[in-house]
Amino acid sequence: MQINSANFEATIERMIQISKEKPLLPETFVPWADEPGVHTLFLPEKMVSLEGHALWNTLSKEQQVELGRLEVVQAMYSYAWSETLACLFFNRHLLQLNPDSLEYRFLIREVIEEFRHQEMFGMAIRKLNRVAVLPTGLHKFFGNFTVKYLPAPLVFMSVLTIEMIADVYAKNCRKDEKVFSVIRKTSELHHIEEGRHIFYTEAWLEKYTRKAGFFKASVYSIIILLNIYFIRTLYVKKIFFQQIGVSDPEKYYKEAVKNFRVKFAEYTLASIADFVKSFNGFNWLTKPLWRRIAKLKL
Ligand SMILES: [Fe+2]
Ligand SMILES: [Fe+2]
Repeated sequence: MQINSANFEATIERMIQISKEKPLLPETFVPWADEPGVHTLFLPEKMVSLEGHALWNTLSKEQQVELGRLEVVQAMYSYAWSETLACLFFNRHLLQLNPDSLEYRFLIREVIEEFRHQEMFGMAIRKLNRVAVLPTGLHKFFGNFTVKYLPAPLVFMSVLTIEMIADVYAKNCRKDEKVFSVIRKTSELHHIEEGRHIFYTEAWLEKYTRKAGFFKASVYSIIILLNIYFIRTLYVKKIFFQQIGVSDPEKYYKEAVKNFRVKFAEYTLASIADFVKSFNGFNWLTKPLWRRIAKLKL
């Protein structure tokens, strides 16, 4: 759908209206008073880094559950932090727009929703009572550099990539009956609102991706790939294996990272790969990088 078509404008107006008239408030949408039971999971098993590897079966059920709990806290922290960065960019972008324009009015709703998400993730982390590992200096540098200095289409590309990844997590968590109700409802809220953001951002980017030749398509493709690498390296942490008390945390950690890279490509990257395909972002230059870094089968 093209950004200037009447159809597109009507859809965005409708999304603005829904956001205003049916706001999903984390305070009331999520059952914060619920407590997990003995068999409650915190992350669907297939999303846990080590699941599927031979070492997974050497963990007790309690260790498996605890690893999921630590990793979901880490994932939620990573999204909250990425959304804080995205909001920094949205504010920079809003300064160039007219407050009565469609783009401004939608982005304002998006910023409002993103701030609620950040607060919601913070509340869920507190509820789960675990501590996330903060981003490295390198993550902070690239995150800040991207949102402060890169041109808008490249930042929207980055925001879209992370939203698509978060959305796959949300879809999987909300569906799994074994997962803690607080995580499921948090995921449901996020999935509903991110659906609108993803639709908008993809359409906004179309004016750039439609005309992209080899050079631009390669740049977009590499930016998306770097964001996948960026977010993936925020997830699996060595300290988690120390915390669950395995005998050789270093070995478990290394195997979990390798296992997770392959699973991540299988479960998470389908919609992103479709998007990259839509603007011919897989070519002789970028394909080897995608295979090597994202472990994507092309
Ligand atoms: Fe969000
Ligand atoms: Fe979003």
